[in-house]
Amino acid sequence: MGEVGFLTLALLALSSAIVEGCPPSDRAALLAFKAALKEPYLGIFSSWTGTDCCHKWYGVSCDPESHQVADINLRGESQELERSRRSGYMTGYISSSICRLSRLSSVTIADWKGISGEIPRCITSLPFLRILDIIGNRISGELPAGIGQLKRLTVLNVADNLISGGIPPSITNLTSLMHLDLRNNRLSGELPRNFERLGMLSRALLSRNQLTGPIPSSISRIYRLADLDLSMNQISGSIPESLGRMAVLSTLNLDGNKISGNIPSSLFNSGISDLNLSRNALNGNIPDVFGPRSYFTVLDLSYNNLRGSIPKSVSSASYIGHLDLSHNHLCGRIPAGSPFDHLEASSFVYNDCLCGKPLKAC
Ligand SMILES: *[C@@H]1O[C@H](CO)[C@@H](O)[C@H](O)[C@H]1NC(C)=O
Ligand SMILES: *[C@@H]1O[C@H](CO)[C@@H](O)[C@H](O)[C@H]1NC(C)=O
Repeated sequence: MGEVGFLTLALLALSSAIVEGCPPSDRAALLAFKAALKEPYLGIFSSWTGTDCCHKWYGVSCDPESHQVADINLRGESQELERSRRSGYMTGYISSSICRLSRLSSVTIADWKGISGEIPRCITSLPFLRILDIIGNRISGELPAGIGQLKRLTVLNVADNLISGGIPPSITNLTSLMHLDLRNNRLSGELPRNFERLGMLSRALLSRNQLTGPIPSSISRIYRLADLDLSMNQISGSIPESLGRMAVLSTLNLDGNKISGNIPSSLFNSGISDLNLSRNALNGNIPDVFGPRSYFTVLDLSYNNLRGSIPKSVSSASYIGHLDLSHNHLCGRIPAGSPFDHLEASSFVYNDCLCGKPLKAC
């Protein structure tokens, strides 16, 4: 065969690969994935026909070079659906055939409300997976023990499901993870030791579970952590002072736990602007350390056992939008000046003997 002939053959082979689009094995895996699901109202899977799964299959996209399936993006509450005033509902389960899509980089199967079953264990063998988002279903069972194998994972969102068991220790191997959302499940046990190994984490949202044990102070070594939400769990122990010295932490929600001890003064002189410590067992005085660095859109200390008076330094905070000190054992005169002039009585009620505006005169 001459050089030209060979080139022609090679070109022919290349163009037929392009025309064919997705590999038959990927197509077969997608069809097996689809067979385990039932979506009766929108008919999104009716687009999953023909040989080229890279072309016009709703929610499927392929890697432009390898033509293998790279993304599955199925959202039950997408803007597209909202425009047509419909909301998705899907039942069935996530089939382990999804693990045969070896090039998958993102899996979003979100807000379908009715998808049950467990997360397929084999998902941990997808080496390119960056995004796993299955929020808003009825998925149960435990998080895969081997989740830490997903070295490229940046987003793990399993919020609003029925996932139980502990947070697998291997999770601390996800050193690329930026967004961890485990909210509103049935997770129990303590936060993994070495949680600080999640060095890229910027949001750690773990609220509304049954987590126990203390807040590890090493969490404060996660340099990029901006949002830490541990609310509505059974967390105990005291608040690590070091949380108030974190570089970019701006939201700290610890409300609805069993946290005791004093409030570390560092929290009031930090970059934290959204602080909810409500419904715990905090005691001692409110530290008198507010200053120009104190800027709070929310400062909720209600339903604790705080004693003493409201510190005078609160008036030197640069801003306090919503302040709630109700349901404590505070006493004495409510200071005058900002931020107190715009607050209502509900911010101060149910204390032992607070007085002055907006409560009754002393
Ligand atoms: C984290 O990964 C390392 C190396 O891949 C492995 O030896 C170790 O057991 C893993 N840690 C956990 C807690 O799974
Ligand atoms: C703080 O947390 C409590 C208890 O979880 C909640 O009821 C309250 O609304 C929160 N405060 C603000 C200002 O969001």
